[in-house]
Amino acid sequence: MATQLESLRKHSYVVADTGDIDAVARWKPQDATTNPSLLLASAEDPRFRHLMDRDVDQVFVNFGSEILKHIPGRVSTEVDARLSFDTAKSIDKARRFISLYEKAGVKRGRILIKLAATWEGVRAARELEREGIHCNMTLLFSFAQAVACADAGVTLISPFVGRIYDWHKAARKVDDIPIEEDPGVQSVAKIYGYYKKHGYQTQVMGASFRKTGQILALAGCDLLTIAPDLLQKLAGTEGEIPRKLSPEKAQAGDKLDPPSERRAGLDEAAFRWMHNEDAMATDKLAEGIRRFDADARKLEKLITSLAAAVAAK
Ligand code: E4P
Repeated sequence: MATQLESLRKHSYVVADTGDIDAVARWKPQDATTNPSLLLASAEDPRFRHLMDRDVDQVFVNFGSEILKHIPGRVSTEVDARLSFDTAKSIDKARRFISLYEKAGVKRGRILIKLAATWEGVRAARELEREGIHCNMTLLFSFAQAVACADAGVTLISPFVGRIYDWHKAARKVDDIPIEEDPGVQSVAKIYGYYKKHGYQTQVMGASFRKTGQILALAGCDLLTIAPDLLQKLAGTEGEIPRKLSPEKAQAGDKLDPPSERRAGLDEAAFRWMHNEDAMATDKLAEGIRRFDADARKLEKLITSLAAAVAAK
């Protein structure tokens, strides 16, 4: 019998959510995603010391280039969270990543520039996509963010499951929420349904998983980015996975909560209002930016201390 991982691969592209090159080589995903927290963990790992550099952008590109040697598809590299509210600087940073990748011999088609799905991040992505720089919108918690990203014609969005689940568990003071009621799973299913029903080309990649049940409940989503420990669990469990999401089901109206009408053309005020109406999304977007920023600062400190150690030799 097939494992859950083999079965899942029939319905969705499986992506590795890690900065661990050995894990990417082992799991052979289609694509891979990194973020500042994942890259901090890998940068602290002596196995990857040879990928360190004095320039944090170059470190990100070194890891990305190495990951690309093990996958057929794309790697996501995230723009500094400090730029989350600055469209022009986010565009500059994305162009710099692309230029560093191109110097390393990597074509832009294999890179997804990850940007926080703030209003400014979405504006940056709209411009970058026009230049042929493809974007992956991250820290996506609200339907408003998904609508704005589709409007902007971005290549891919990463709606989070686990952090939504974490928020609701804390708010309800419970240890678990069953899959059938999981607000993170419901959020991705709703966004997927909306995109497919209205013919948006933007790909949906479910992200931030806490348990395999959340992944299996989204089988059929365009892509699913999964951490190595959960890939291991899926590979260690036998079972056929039924497809849960599909364009056909979306067309039939399944998995669509109101509003199912097209919401294109959100302007800044409407976006901010709609996003602000969602307390979970407001909290989690702000916290996510703070956490990625904190880990990027730790990574910068590590780079400085490694450089000092080399100079002292
Ligand atoms: C991937 O794109 C995300 O950065 C990642 O899935 C976040 O996962 P976490 O909520 O476990 O940090």
